[in-house]
Amino acid sequence: MDIKKYLQTKKIQVEQALEQNMFKAEGLLAGHMESMRYSLFAGGKRVRPILCIATAEALGGNAEPVLPMACAFDCIHTYSLIHDDLPAMDNDDLRRGKLTCHKVFGEAEAILAGDGLLTYGFELLARPDNTSLPPNDRLKIIHLVARAIGSLGMVGGQALDMASEGKTIPFETLRYLHSCKTGALITAAVQTGAILGQASTKQYQAMTSYGENIGLAFQIKDDLLNIEATTEQLGKAAGSDAVLEKATYPAFFGVEETRKKAKQAIANAISALDIFDHKSDPLRELAKYIYERSK
Ligand code: IPE
Ligand code: IPE
Ligand code: MG
Ligand code: MG
Repeated sequence: MDIKKYLQTKKIQVEQALEQNMFKAEGLLAGHMESMRYSLFAGGKRVRPILCIATAEALGGNAEPVLPMACAFDCIHTYSLIHDDLPAMDNDDLRRGKLTCHKVFGEAEAILAGDGLLTYGFELLARPDNTSLPPNDRLKIIHLVARAIGSLGMVGGQALDMASEGKTIPFETLRYLHSCKTGALITAAVQTGAILGQASTKQYQAMTSYGENIGLAFQIKDDLLNIEATTEQLGKAAGSDAVLEKATYPAFFGVEETRKKAKQAIANAISALDIFDHKSDPLRELAKYIYERSK
């Protein structure tokens, strides 16, 4: 299959669904809505929503709620990026090829844009206007996403990331940090797709292992690109991890060993899919894309 074409098609679907579902910048809150829209529609790759859709489709899933739920993952992800870029965190001026949210709208509004996107993500997950998803499955999804992005997941990972600047931390801590700050949301997107696809326990476990492995590889690759790519190519500052003395795989192992570790994680992800048929081919290709991508 042609993964580039697949990504392009799915990205258009996600963009359209985001446009349909996101607040318009009008009325009394036009300024607030505009700051959320600015970051959300700045041109992300939409990897997390696409993973959610691809997982549901791999299992022959429940189509109706998939798109709004998939959109929730890019609302939540965009919130995390807006806050990650704030001066108190990574202090970045560029994101998705544009000035960061706080550079355009100010810090207070950027914090609120993040808060609004995070909360709206849960509104999309909880939306009662489709009836095809059993309430218990919806509750399971809301619970797993809350767990994945809170203090035992993404927020905790970000806290460890900030606390580890300028320090050498043990490998176990570094791995845990990565699996929390980036792996947890990616895994949650895959697990949500698995629930929408009515996965059996065995299938859910296999998809979870797939998600965890690509999640780890995703952050490792992000850190390799931070060293090897240009700011222009990435649409965000290259070389920043070294300046901030971030705890990364390349800083810990060097670039060559880091590449091997990322490739191993991708191989593990693909073997976790062994129990699935050809409908999971997009997931196999997505795993390879995560390592091979150039931005
Ligand atoms: C960047 O995520 C931040 C990390 C968690 C590594 P993406 O590379 O998915 O960013 P966008 O959404 O395409 O901008
Ligand atoms: C981002 O990690 C992780 C989250 C936003 C949760 P990084 O700080 O490494 O990502 P970039 O390089 O700024 O996109
Ligand atoms: Mg960061
Ligand atoms: Mg950052």
